Amino acid sequence: MNQSVKFDKLAATYDAARGGEGRGHMTAATISPHLAPGSVLEVGVGTGVVAAGLAALGHTVHGVDVSRPMLDVAATRFDGELTVADGMALPFDDASQDNVVYVHALHLMPDMAGALKEAARVLRPGGRVVVRHGDPVSEPDDLVLILRQVQARQPDRPDAPDAVRAAAEAAGLRMCEQGMRPEYESGMTPETFIALITNRQVPFLQRLSPERAAEVVEPILAQLRALPDPRRERRQSWSCWLTVAEKPA
Ligand SMILES: C[S@@+](CC[C@H](N)C(=O)[O-])C[C@H]1O[C@@H](n2cnc3c(N)ncnc32)[C@H](O)[C@@H]1O
Repeated sequence: MNQSVKFDKLAATYDAARGGEGRGHMTAATISPHLAPGSVLEVGVGTGVVAAGLAALGHTVHGVDVSRPMLDVAATRFDGELTVADGMALPFDDASQDNVVYVHALHLMPDMAGALKEAARVLRPGGRVVVRHGDPVSEPDDLVLILRQVQARQPDRPDAPDAVRAAAEAAGLRMCEQGMRPEYESGMTPETFIALITNRQVPFLQRLSPERAAEVVEPILAQLRALPDPRRERRQSWSCWLTVAEKPA
């Protein structure tokens, strides 16, 4: 399934399953200090939660995405420009952008180095690429320990830190920084987690084949149903990778 079709189908439920505006604002606060002066192009802007967070911090943001339904949701929360476009062929002039940002989007491009070459083309000298990537991690509680079992069974992600670094360097970008940084805080009860797993709204399950997902779902649900206090919220602080690179002047 191509990415546009996949996210067209997810648009209505995406925010509830992926942290929504709370994640967007916290992610924006983590990204903002690393941006070069000027505006931001967010590639794979999705439902606009991060773009709205960056706009609230005073940044001018232009969002692009291959999925029109995701952009339709973004338009309900974000006043900036939104364009249907492919990150592999950005409809912008050479050296026309100050920053290019990807939040859980770079790994979905068919070729990370090719996507970053395209970012480098549209960036002005001294402009920056900021990437949030990799699976979020949190201190363990009883829910997180079960979630880790799902994570452990997923196929390897393409956006491991070394791979993102290598792609940035292959695109001619100079590395500025790479590390784990806060991404969002969540509160979840076993009951809500059971609903997400049952409806396959957990990203890890969506990356597994339907046969493999069916195999892992039942044992996970059995463990979740056995947890005490199914309506008690567990709070987690999640982090994921931040990579910052610059187009040499
Ligand atoms: C996991 S979502 C992340 C959305 C948003 N950045 C966020 O953090 O909520 C990935 C987004 O990238 C978009 N996408 C996937 N491949 C793309 C491509 N080649 N060009 C532009 N957008 C793409 C999808 O349609 C989707 O909206």
